[in-house]
Amino acid sequence: MASVGTEILSTKDVVIKPLPFALGATIECGDVSRLDAAAQALIRQAYLDHLVLVFPGQHLSDDEQIAFTSLFGPVTDSYTGLADGKRRMVAMVSNQPGGGLGFGELRWHSDHSFEARPFSASILQAIAIPPSGGDTHYSNMYLALDTLPDGLKAKIRGLTIKNAISTNSAGEQIGEAITDVRLHKGPSHPIIRTHPETGRNALYLGRRPDAYINGLSLEESEDLLNALWAHASNGDFAYPHRWQVGDVVVWDNRATMHRRDAFDETQTRILHRTQCSGDEPTHDAAADARGSHARGHLSR
Ligand code: OGA
Ligand code: MN
Repeated sequence: MASVGTEILSTKDVVIKPLPFALGATIECGDVSRLDAAAQALIRQAYLDHLVLVFPGQHLSDDEQIAFTSLFGPVTDSYTGLADGKRRMVAMVSNQPGGGLGFGELRWHSDHSFEARPFSASILQAIAIPPSGGDTHYSNMYLALDTLPDGLKAKIRGLTIKNAISTNSAGEQIGEAITDVRLHKGPSHPIIRTHPETGRNALYLGRRPDAYINGLSLEESEDLLNALWAHASNGDFAYPHRWQVGDVVVWDNRATMHRRDAFDETQTRILHRTQCSGDEPTHDAAADARGSHARGHLSR
């Protein structure tokens, strides 16, 4: 629903269209900078229900993107995508000078899982998009947990993964190289994570390289991680997002993972990124009896 002028947009201007995948919804609402409080609340609930929201046709300035981001949590700065290593509120994810994360594939991950308090929401606004490639795939980790075979579910109960700060999703080294995953000091997070707002459990894997399941032998940890990753990354729980210029996409890192396809390095891809600070991941045993997933069906 296109909106013109500067009028305030209310709930009647917001159309939520669930995507035909295991997660995600498109939100048609006109300029997200002009939503009234009730429309903002509706969108906030849609974010918890659908995990990934796509807002097409936006043209947000940095200040507008920061203001929109604050709807999902406390806006924080990041060094993501920055060649100079300085933290900024609005980072540039791009293969162009001054941007970061390059043009290669980004492997499945949840943002900043290697920190004690990983980001809750991340937001990208598409400024320039190549004609092909660079799609971003999002995956529903409530559903990944719900569909985990019982034997695996029993094995991970109460266990934590130690998350490495060694490489980013592009495989670039951002911390000290790790020689023994059992000894490094990265923060540990529960494998079954209870979402602090929905109270539902999700599989929380972080990222695969240099991960270690505390308390297991190296071999047991590798075997269990491989089994969990094979299940979680099989595509059944995923939505592949093909970007259009003007798309603003919000996702919940507490219940999703994402990956990006590589694209032609001679093409230009620019996205502006903002993010919200999050809580320390926890597991609440009372959540175990609850059904996990917000959305019922598999994509195939
Ligand atoms: C990110 C990220 C994916 C992309 O910014 O955290 O993973 O499509 N980006 O560039
Ligand atoms: Mn990411």
